Amino acid sequence: MSKEYPMLYSPFKLKHLTLKNRIVKPAQWVIYAEPDGSVGARVIAFYESIARGGVGLITVEESICEYPEGASNIPHIRLDEDRFIPGLSELAKAIHKYDVPCFVQITHAGPAHNPAFSGTQPVAPSRLDPPAEPQMAVARELTIPEIKGLVEKYAQAALTG
Ligand SMILES: Cc1cc2nc3c(=O)[nH]c(=O)nc-3n(C[C@H](O)[C@H](O)[C@H](O)COP(=O)(O)O)c2cc1C
Repeated sequence: MSKEYPMLYSPFKLKHLTLKNRIVKPAQWVIYAEPDGSVGARVIAFYESIARGGVGLITVEESICEYPEGASNIPHIRLDEDRFIPGLSELAKAIHKYDVPCFVQITHAGPAHNPAFSGTQPVAPSRLDPPAEPQMAVARELTIPEIKGLVEKYAQAALTG
């Protein structure tokens, strides 16, 4: 296979990272997080198997910077508190064993938040009535201080992840 696709299997320099090939696992929410949003054995086994398979880079699925409003549904990997760092660190170690770097996709569900599990109304840059999709609830408009707070939450999530 590597002879057939020499470019695909050649290293790629991405800033300070050197990927061993150009195969990238995209972010896909697989719902293997623990119910409390921590990374446990199932998440680790899933991503470790992909790393073992020989990809050049893994993007860990959408992981949330705010809870509960940031979750479309549960479970999601959470990045909003330091207590999630040990699980995330184990995940990174399991992937790095195979010489594969990993990124994590930081997200916020916004209008896709399901209030059924939190009792909290979804938020969006503007009020969304009717919602973009029929299964969604009406989202309320964020205030400017809330938007600034979310920017900070993304930054904090980047440090956690
Ligand atoms: C089960 C599933 C979960 C997904 N989760 C995410 C996600 O967490 N973040 C994201 O950006 N895209 C997500 N996607 C979109 C995929 O990343 C996208 O389908 C993938 O990059 C393949 O691209 P394509 O659909 O254009 O072929 C998901 C798709 C599926 C099927």
